[in-house]
Amino acid sequence: MKKLLKYGCAILALVLVYNLGLTALGSGAAEAAGDNPFSDVPDGEWYADDVIWCYDNNIMDGVGGGHFDPNGAMKRAMLVTMLHRVENTPAVTDAPTFPDVPGGQWYSDAVYWAAKNNIVDGDDNGSFRPEDKLTREQAVTILWRYADRPDAGTATGFADEGDIADYARSAVAWAKANNVVDGVGGNRFAPKDGLTRAQAAAILARFLRNRVDEPAQPAEPAGNGTLVVYYSATDNTQRVARIIADTLNADIFELEPVEPYTSADLNWSDSQSRVSREHEDASLRNVELVNAVPDNWDSYDTVFVGYPIWWGGAAWPVNEFITSNDFTGKTVIPFCTSSSSGMGQSGTDLAALAGEGDWQEGRRFQSGASEATVTEWVNSLDLTPSAPAEPEDGTSVVYFTSDISSEGMLAVYEALGWTPTGNVAVKLSTGEPPASNYLRPELIEGVVKAVDGTIVECNTAYGGSRTETAMHMQVAEDHGFTAIADVDILDAEGSMELPVDGEGAATVLSSNLVGSHFGNYDSYVVLSHFKGHAMAGFGGAIKNISIGLGSKEGKCLIHTGGRSHTSPWGGDQTAFTESMAEAGKSVSDYLGEGERIIYISVLNNISIDCDCDGNPAEPDIHDIGILASTDPVAIDQAAYDLCKAADGSEALMQRIDRQMGLHTLEHAEEIGLGSRTYTMVEI
Ligand SMILES: Cc1cc2nc3c(=O)[nH]c(=O)nc-3n(C[C@H](O)[C@H](O)[C@H](O)COP(=O)(O)O)c2cc1C
Repeated sequence: MKKLLKYGCAILALVLVYNLGLTALGSGAAEAAGDNPFSDVPDGEWYADDVIWCYDNNIMDGVGGGHFDPNGAMKRAMLVTMLHRVENTPAVTDAPTFPDVPGGQWYSDAVYWAAKNNIVDGDDNGSFRPEDKLTREQAVTILWRYADRPDAGTATGFADEGDIADYARSAVAWAKANNVVDGVGGNRFAPKDGLTRAQAAAILARFLRNRVDEPAQPAEPAGNGTLVVYYSATDNTQRVARIIADTLNADIFELEPVEPYTSADLNWSDSQSRVSREHEDASLRNVELVNAVPDNWDSYDTVFVGYPIWWGGAAWPVNEFITSNDFTGKTVIPFCTSSSSGMGQSGTDLAALAGEGDWQEGRRFQSGASEATVTEWVNSLDLTPSAPAEPEDGTSVVYFTSDISSEGMLAVYEALGWTPTGNVAVKLSTGEPPASNYLRPELIEGVVKAVDGTIVECNTAYGGSRTETAMHMQVAEDHGFTAIADVDILDAEGSMELPVDGEGAATVLSSNLVGSHFGNYDSYVVLSHFKGHAMAGFGGAIKNISIGLGSKEGKCLIHTGGRSHTSPWGGDQTAFTESMAEAGKSVSDYLGEGERIIYISVLNNISIDCDCDGNPAEPDIHDIGILASTDPVAIDQAAYDLCKAADGSEALMQRIDRQMGLHTLEHAEEIGLGSRTYTMVEI
């Protein structure tokens, strides 16, 4: 399910960390970034880099005298102060107060800011206990809340999971899944242990660096037509909302009061509790929300609105959302949970408050309604799961997930909303032995099986272990491909000629020679591993359908710009890059003008060398994610852009420049293979 990410402070953090890295250091930081100013932080110590990174970015100071005190204990107020600094120490007004956090303390503003942003709250007595030791589970919870409470389930996998407080379970699961935190010995998390200053630096640096490393792409999520908005005080409505969103592949948006309701607040049997007072006095029901306006509101035509029933009506924290948005032209479907009451007038009351919109009857669920009950209702509404909207400007869509797994592959594939017809081929590179970075069978197996595909490849033109069919099949077996699907070497029996005659397409090649079995398949799924290539600059989707589908003779023609049928060597670079685009166009045209071919590219193990190199250089760039598109030009451009924005991309970019890699995309766009302008949609 694609989530409507509330970037808020997380993205702000991203931006600020960039800025902090570029601007002058904080007071007292005399050394250039990267120098170690602390005599008690030995170079090479596991935490040294992280400590210096936090110091360079003005997030942590030393303790004086050139010391950092790595083993010193962190206090609760300290982590909050670090995050406040990351945000550039914003002032806040109307923040919740704590009796033990008077103004004027070194941490006061930070704690007020964190409380106002729901990053911290008080204990049962309403105190913050700023000087208390910060435990590992508290630290992770603070970071998780700061990250906008991403959903990563509650399973942590730690041996002492049972010792983790309930409130911290989701946070620890998220931190573990995202490598923000490691266990201590014996696969334990040690939730109640205190955190040292060195550990805090490591955790925070890891967390913030990951954010910096996230693709700084125009990944502004596009709406998918259906949005599920909900308020939930005790998570019952949240459960239902998530089931609805999952069933419909819809976006989801939680309404969070700036001042969340505690269990004491919700005690309706106490006439003095917050809800009771608000119930008695309607003027107290203006509950301010952290964010009342969902991103991309205009892109939704169907909006579910969920809430708990309070005293027979809709819980009033939804009101600010209703009055802050224009429902004109939207279909609105209310739903609620309650212990026993029905929906009553709650839906019609909200419709009256909204004033606009086509409000449907809606549905009330028992507090603990089963998943089956909810999905059955959703399905009965006959709202087909909506494919993400095409951008209005007509540019191509490239779907992105950072989840490099079989599930991630399937998610981007499904996002395309494409259905293959007839015999399905899955084109990939089987990878040159002994050590190439080809896409592993376990990563692609889900998609291969989902399309019931045959893995197809062509023999190489340059020698190596895959230049003859029998040897090539052996490599396919050794690399695990024959275990997941049938494998067909397309040029085992020679070539098949494809015309290169689209409008303006044939400036270099007059025809393209693919493996002769190419025509045995009706639909193609092109799985590419994006990385550098010694001759083409980079290898992605277009290279995969041009050189990759070429018979030996076809490969020679592409490499030499049509001049040689027998040797791939010695061609002109412009002609070579343009030939790849033209060969790719011939393939796309043959497959129903691109209707019967899709592209998935994986950005992992990104070396400057291709998978046709059995001993590629070590990757310089961290793994980024998986892309999918129906447009081979857009997907290659997006992969290039993501790599370019990543740390360590210099060598790859140099290689691409030197080999005129981008000229392939320029020419491909010129001849109508696709568009270099794209909209990226994060899944
Ligand atoms: C202040 C308050 C008032 C409630 N009033 C009703 C009610 O009138 N009828 C009812 O059946 N349940 C009532 N409930 C129970 C909730 O509607 C029910 O537990 C619901 O599932 C809570 O949803 P949530 O977990 O999403 O907050 C009330 C709960 C609270 C806290």
